[in-house]
Amino acid sequence: MLPEPAPQLCQALAADLRSAGYASAALRDAWGAQADDALARGLRGPAAQALEGRDDALAVLGRLWGLGMPVPRASVDAALPTLTVTGAVDLGLIATVGADVAPAVLVRPQAFADDAGEVEWWIASDLDEAALQGPLPEDHVLGVGGASQTLARLQLTRRGGNALDLGTGCGIQALRLRRLVDRVVATDISERALRFTRLNALLNGVDGIETRHGSLFEPVAGETFDRVASNPPFVITPRVEGVPAYEYRDGGLEGDALVAAVIEGVGAQLAPGGVAQSLGNWEYHGEESGLDRVRGWVGPSLDAWVIEREVLDPLAYAELWVRDGGTVPGTPAYARLIEAWLDDFARRGVTGVGFGYVLLRKPLAGAPTLSRYERVAGGGEGGFGPHLASCLAAHDRAALLDDVDLADSVLRVAPDVTEARHHRPGEGDPSVIELRQGGGFARTLEVDPALAALVGACDGDLPVGTLIDAIAQLMEVDAAHLRADLLPRVRELLVTGFVSFED
Ligand SMILES: C[S@@+](CC[C@H](N)C(=O)[O-])C[C@H]1O[C@@H](n2cnc3c(N)ncnc32)[C@H](O)[C@@H]1O
Repeated sequence: MLPEPAPQLCQALAADLRSAGYASAALRDAWGAQADDALARGLRGPAAQALEGRDDALAVLGRLWGLGMPVPRASVDAALPTLTVTGAVDLGLIATVGADVAPAVLVRPQAFADDAGEVEWWIASDLDEAALQGPLPEDHVLGVGGASQTLARLQLTRRGGNALDLGTGCGIQALRLRRLVDRVVATDISERALRFTRLNALLNGVDGIETRHGSLFEPVAGETFDRVASNPPFVITPRVEGVPAYEYRDGGLEGDALVAAVIEGVGAQLAPGGVAQSLGNWEYHGEESGLDRVRGWVGPSLDAWVIEREVLDPLAYAELWVRDGGTVPGTPAYARLIEAWLDDFARRGVTGVGFGYVLLRKPLAGAPTLSRYERVAGGGEGGFGPHLASCLAAHDRAALLDDVDLADSVLRVAPDVTEARHHRPGEGDPSVIELRQGGGFARTLEVDPALAALVGACDGDLPVGTLIDAIAQLMEVDAAHLRADLLPRVRELLVTGFVSFED
């Protein structure tokens, strides 16, 4: 078990990491961009090779805690003058083995930027498959992986009083939430994970994070929060002998029941106006779509925006997660695990598994106004948080307007929107017109000439109703009819960020 982190030792470690220049960009420079990308895929050889022959503190710490490799004790003595090797042993971060020091955990730099500025943290987590050179133990505490980063990039940037991070793991979401709120409660069923969270908070000098042990909402029963973030253990796992149940990705329930429990239960923990954001997997059963299944979990009292990014068939899903656990394709163990997954899916009639993002909000007052369940595959690497926030704000404003008020509103086309017209060879009129969004979820929307003309004319000058009337005149169609046709679609353009209110 990881020892309880001592604050003075964490401060000493921070001082040594800082003076070694142990930061994401410095490591990337040290081992090169290609090796850095390979490391993100779990391959550490190229990075190790690039550091060969170097004995400076950055290279020593990079080998030890970036790659999870043993290094000579004398080099660690030199790289940790404040903490010392003894201090690192007391923190549970290394073990001494003869003349060498072996890593007991990884401590990786983590850089990101948000509204409040740029941050560089050090995040301790368990040794990964590359460092262990084999499958992970079931109580593995995950570092900052792809899903963690996805959830972090989705977070709305608005501030609040308090937040809950359900299933905190190494504490990365809690640390990020703490930048937006005064107090964060971070929960987990793993005591080991909570120790990592406390260690990471101390190491990075972040206060205001309280850790609590327990399953789902048990540790916060009766409390409400302005923000909830959860990257829950959403991986659907067969409940049979011989299939490992990794705490970090598997909540121990059958099928998608854990994600259902998070979505069904979170409304009771939200303060009025509070927002919960989570990732999830949901099953498809026969004709029932996964998104409809999620709709059933959400119920009628919350605003909901659920985005499905992809759907995998049972075999692709099984292969993804069997490989993720470190079991090598082509081995008997691999074939046995795949069979267990496929049996479980077949027995329960599962025909596919959706992966996506869930945003739920408790209305400040009255009934919910937002109910979007959609499949959106696109979107770049940037943060979706500001985009989601402005789309939600536009939705909220439009929801208060009837069509007459909406027609009186002045709108502006978003700066990242472009138009593509496709013509049959030799024909003057386009057969397809598309509006394309450069940022956000990079949506493409097929529009008719009237809507294309309206969007093109939304330059923040004339009210949308006046523009529609002018377009009706040009196209020689009935203006009232055109308003009735276009205004609902203008609402859709507002909530998807193609246009915005001018003031
Ligand atoms: C995928 S990890 C997420 C870690 C971290 N929040 C992140 O975003 O990287 C899921 C975490 O949920 C925890 N967990 C598993 N079952 C849980 C439960 N029933 N209640 C609360 N946490 C649970 C696991 O121990 C693990 O730390």
